[in-house]
Amino acid sequence: MVTLLENPLRVGLQQERSPEPLIMVIFGASGDLTQRKLVPAIYQLKRERRLPPEITVVGVARRDWSHEYFREQMKEGVEQFSDGIQSEELWQDFEQGLFYCSGDMDRPESYQKLKAFLGELDGRRGTRGNRVFYLAVSPKFFAEAIRQLGGAGMLTDPIKHRLVIEKPFGRDLSSAQTLNRVVQNVCKEEQVYRIDHYLGKETVQNLLVFRFANAIFEPLWNRQFVDHVQITVAETVGVEDRAGYYETSGALRDMVQNHLMQLFCLTAMEAPNALDANSIRTEKVKVIQATHLADINNLEYSAIRGQYKAGWMKGKPVPGYREEPGVNPNSTTPTYVAMKLLIDNWRWQGVPFYLRTGKRLPKKVSEISIQFRDVPLMIFQSAAQQTSPNVLTLRIQPNEGISLRFEAKMPGAELRTRTVDMDFGYGSSFGMATADAYNRLLLDCMLGDQTLFTRADEVEEAWRVVSPALTAWEAPSDPAFIPQYEAGTWEPKEAEYLINRDGRRWRRP
Ligand code: BG6
Repeated sequence: MVTLLENPLRVGLQQERSPEPLIMVIFGASGDLTQRKLVPAIYQLKRERRLPPEITVVGVARRDWSHEYFREQMKEGVEQFSDGIQSEELWQDFEQGLFYCSGDMDRPESYQKLKAFLGELDGRRGTRGNRVFYLAVSPKFFAEAIRQLGGAGMLTDPIKHRLVIEKPFGRDLSSAQTLNRVVQNVCKEEQVYRIDHYLGKETVQNLLVFRFANAIFEPLWNRQFVDHVQITVAETVGVEDRAGYYETSGALRDMVQNHLMQLFCLTAMEAPNALDANSIRTEKVKVIQATHLADINNLEYSAIRGQYKAGWMKGKPVPGYREEPGVNPNSTTPTYVAMKLLIDNWRWQGVPFYLRTGKRLPKKVSEISIQFRDVPLMIFQSAAQQTSPNVLTLRIQPNEGISLRFEAKMPGAELRTRTVDMDFGYGSSFGMATADAYNRLLLDCMLGDQTLFTRADEVEEAWRVVSPALTAWEAPSDPAFIPQYEAGTWEPKEAEYLINRDGRRWRRP
């Protein structure tokens, strides 16, 4: 068993591990994330026997709930949003370790009360003073909660006390720097787990394995063979009931600065020296430091925003973004972003990385596609033959897998070629569904493995890359000038120009 005292840097990505007894304190316990994701994930880990029996969860929120009511709410969450309870006996054992402690995030007394309660639980549950504080609250409370936890002396032990912070970490570069300073005032970087749930996805972790456990791809993974890279995270959902948050966030903050930048880093980084948290994160930071928007002086050549207008999804009419409940009818918040990034280093000089994400697009699909260069001389030139360059596509979700597109001779006397795919699917190869990202991330922070969490400098660099677009789009602009796309279509025409100008086209996954 790996103990909390073991050096987390030596903990590898793939080992079977089990955490020490601890209390997971969830701030924001009455919120969606706790009920839909966090507690179901902890229960699932318990079912898989990955947790010691002492594991204890304390929910903290303002509402005046009892332990029993909290347990009922969590049970509903497990039943509704995961594989269900399955064993009533196991649930009863689990719920013995679920507690609730009401409190106000900005009142020191609440933290003192919590501290005393956790101390009492240590005695009852055998949790030995080990704590993971999970901030599943609105980002506006992050700084205050961290200061108060520090002030109450709850983050003093660099081994026993950990802090998990949900995204978004800051609103821009300077607020992220400020938040990092608040964190650094009360604890060490080794205690901090900044969540980006994309890193918990099996297929995202497989990017490292695919690149660095196979000999044949890495020699091609550079400017000599790669024409360009497209990273797509497309969603069919609209803003749903999250207008309050989304109006102040938009696609650039909600998706690009975090999820897409992580996919980008793992695709473009150099091989780390080892599989530990700092080696991997250092390589990610190095590549991001060399990255910039393609043309900062002409933003329309490197970053396009868009907003969905009314359209059709699955044969049904859907409203435009500005007509959604809670959205300002003159909103300029982007629901779509496309950008072109360049990396100034030996491996990637001159190879564009096109990133795009949007809501209300025709398909839910996330993928990374490496488009290779054309052959140097095409000898199969009859008019009937239209060859296309090789494309390697890593399907992050759904239909998780990898495919390689290449040309093949069609059977027959004539020499005609056709594009075919060689395909690997997680489902067919491993016969099991990939686990929810939160299961993995929660287990890792309980174990003290920071590999799949973002480091302070990494978050700041990601903000720096998107800053020119953020600044330009924050300036008051005429709503009439925000590029629009119909719900159920792929992009505004401006985003097409972004890539067509380079003689390339967006993929239609
Ligand atoms: C979240 C964003 O971080 O990621 C949401 O806030 C988005 O707006 C979601 O819908 C997408 O996650 P996934 O795992 O469904 O691709």
